[in-house]
Amino acid sequence: MPLRPYIVGNWKMHGTRATLSEARAIDRAAQRHMKVEVAIAPPYTLIHPVHREAEQIAVGAQDCHDQESGAHTGEISAAMVADAGAKFVILGHSERREAQSENDALIRAKAQAALAAGLRVIMCCGEAEKVRDAGRAVAHVKKQLKASLPETIEDAAEKLTVAYEPIWAIGTGKTATPEDIAEMHGEIRKLLIALFGEEDGAEIRILYGGSVKPENAGEILNVPEVGGALVGGASLTADSFMGIALAAGEAEEG
Ligand code: 13P
Repeated sequence: MPLRPYIVGNWKMHGTRATLSEARAIDRAAQRHMKVEVAIAPPYTLIHPVHREAEQIAVGAQDCHDQESGAHTGEISAAMVADAGAKFVILGHSERREAQSENDALIRAKAQAALAAGLRVIMCCGEAEKVRDAGRAVAHVKKQLKASLPETIEDAAEKLTVAYEPIWAIGTGKTATPEDIAEMHGEIRKLLIALFGEEDGAEIRILYGGSVKPENAGEILNVPEVGGALVGGASLTADSFMGIALAAGEAEEG
């Protein structure tokens, strides 16, 4: 039984308690779109408030530390976000890989910590524009993903989601072509089967991210091996975010 399309909002560094009304509206709308799994990852400060409000959607974190606790000023552990109500964590986002200099080994350690704390993991990968222009996008993404993912994950189809986000498409209004998305997702699928076996590897959802909007969501979500979307800007309001969820429901019906 294939998993439902998964539409995840990454709120990045946006949102205060005033924004809870949007989370509430997303949750209410998600109750009417049960064919689609909807989730949001707000800033840490909103994880618990959103968790308390939400009846349908899951709430997640945008990062976590690789250690359980300790002298790490300003950091937050997987167990802490789980305690606040998070059910998943986004790891390896290109904004963290770049601005916080996170490397594959650290991201893998964070994934292990998150899974040990009972969180599901959304593992991000993606190439810079110059890597794509040089014709190395597929090789780059496969290498990055292989080095960032834990070698073994129990119930990988349930616990792991992969998000392919070409860096040059994030927040730019540019999106990869359906052909390029199909090629990359197909290659990621092959890698996941090689890493986690035929059964789990074939089921793990592979999300596309980068300037997904209600207007382009239908086309993107209909591409083979696209199991949902990781949405930044367009996830900040219920109207645009649920427009994407609606497109996912329609793509599912085919
Ligand atoms: P945008 O949808 O704003 O391009 O952001 C995508 C993203 O980085 C989601 O993680």
